[in-house]
Amino acid sequence: MEYKIDFLVIGTGIAGLSFALKVAEYGRVAIVTKKEAMETSTNYAQGGIASVFGQYDSFDLHIRDTLEAGDGLCNRGVVETVVKSGPERIRELINWGVAFTQDSAGKLELDLGLEGGHSQKRIVHAGDFTGHAIEQALVDCARNHKQIDIFENHIAVDLITYSTRMKRGLVTAAHEDRCCGAYVLDTKSNHVHTFQAKITILATGGAGKIYLYTSNPDIATGDGIAMTYRAGALVANLEFVQFHPTCLYHPEAKNFLISEAVRGEGGVLIDSHGRAFMEDYDPKKDLACRDIVARAIDNELKKSGDDCVFLDITHKEPDFVRERFPNIYQKCLSLGTDMTKEPIPVVPAAHYMCGGVLVDVYGKTDIERLYAVGETACTGLHGANRLASNSLLEAVVYAHMAAEQAVKELESISDEVCDALPPWDPMGTTDSDEAIVVSHNWDEIRRCMWNYVGIVRSNKRLLRARNRIETIQKEISDYYWDFKITSDLIELRNIAMVAELIIQSAILRKESRGLHYNIQYPEKDDKFWRKDTILRRPFVG
Ligand code: FAD
Ligand code: SIN
Repeated sequence: MEYKIDFLVIGTGIAGLSFALKVAEYGRVAIVTKKEAMETSTNYAQGGIASVFGQYDSFDLHIRDTLEAGDGLCNRGVVETVVKSGPERIRELINWGVAFTQDSAGKLELDLGLEGGHSQKRIVHAGDFTGHAIEQALVDCARNHKQIDIFENHIAVDLITYSTRMKRGLVTAAHEDRCCGAYVLDTKSNHVHTFQAKITILATGGAGKIYLYTSNPDIATGDGIAMTYRAGALVANLEFVQFHPTCLYHPEAKNFLISEAVRGEGGVLIDSHGRAFMEDYDPKKDLACRDIVARAIDNELKKSGDDCVFLDITHKEPDFVRERFPNIYQKCLSLGTDMTKEPIPVVPAAHYMCGGVLVDVYGKTDIERLYAVGETACTGLHGANRLASNSLLEAVVYAHMAAEQAVKELESISDEVCDALPPWDPMGTTDSDEAIVVSHNWDEIRRCMWNYVGIVRSNKRLLRARNRIETIQKEISDYYWDFKITSDLIELRNIAMVAELIIQSAILRKESRGLHYNIQYPEKDDKFWRKDTILRRPFVG
């Protein structure tokens, strides 16, 4: 089946949906999403969105905190734009129906939380389930919009691109430079459809599932980064993988995050003897930036041989804790920990990808008619380490800027989108009877990345990881072309590709900065390394 639309949006998180709602006034929109619409990282966000609303806060302070966290790699212009657009975008979310928590004085002002690295209270939140409140409101708006169709259980396989330059005879060998949609597998019917679009937007989220332990849901397999890299566009800064310091440590607690807002309200990290250890690492103690706290926990665990550390907020009034953190309280209680009476066992886990598809200030990639917004993009906001709660902010601000630009671009595109789209080539025609190989490779990649490309890296471990991933890549490549594709196989190919790119980027950066720490180069080197790590697939003519 072939669909022809104005805008193809890949992903139903905050980035994809807020983009879609803006451009739908100007053209027909198809949104594809690989599971149910609500199944996104956005839906699980807890802490909130950072923005300047506080009496003592200012844009300058938010800009300063963001730059400090980014450790010399943020793009200052981008930081200023994003921070200054924050309040307007948050008012827009409220208009779309998001019910943020009001302050308890009942003055109908937003209640503001505090998180690591912020010098002021500026986290706009909806209890401790901010993401769910946003996701539900945006999905409802999109479902009710006449110009938007949502295709659930549709996974994008690859972008459809072609070269305008080669056709005009300007160059003989070049990367394809224009996007006209994507091939998309309907995972219920197992058919691959062609979505032909004048403008394509990747809003595919993060890549936490590349690691064995992660706060991310299953959808976070770096598909957008892998698809764009395969298409020949630039990707950047993939060595900067953020590990959240506090995920619940419990065999049944798959991916459950304990929000940094718990430390913002006074929670203290302690070891198994009850010793508060963060004062040994940073003057800001438990509210130091995430890279520092995650490395501190990693160090404590290596020293003690313990499985986890603990987050203690038992000194706060139980009623306050239950009311401020209803979601976390209930989850911990269901697994046997009453956080008002006992400390919560926690460990770090892969949480956020600071790098991604390289975009300009309008969210445009270097392939014409292809945009990337949200966690899959690398905008220059986060630099070497993202400040807490700046991700949802970046996603709505960039969705807004990209939408404005895309609407202008649409006017200049004629009805004939691409001259002749090549049909989907079904490749292997037989069903795979070796699903075990796929799951085995998945597991091996995730373990390898956790063990060798984690919070603390070394040259030896990175090279070991590179060798392992290369071997697995070869196996996947054989397997991929031999059998009919499935969503597991598509995701496996993507996590292997993004793993390779993370390792390659980490090997290239010969210093330690922000989230990237290599024991062979423990210092920051501003003279040679205050620059982005940018990769492009070598052209195979
Ligand atoms: P997502 O919300 O992840 O959406 C990605 C979408 O793309 C999904 O619909 C997915 O199905 C779809 N998709 C992916 N690949 C394909 C494909 N091949 N084909 C079709 N569809 C595809 N950030 C903050 O700022 N504040 C917080 O408090 C906060 N808390 C967090 C808590 C948790 C537990 C997690 C995991 C993250 C948190 N973050 C937070 C980070 C933030 O939630 C994410 O960075 C942000 O929601 C990403 O939004 P997005 O729209 O880019 O992607
Ligand atoms: C959290 O609530 O700790 C997550 C915030 C974030 O990832 O920005």
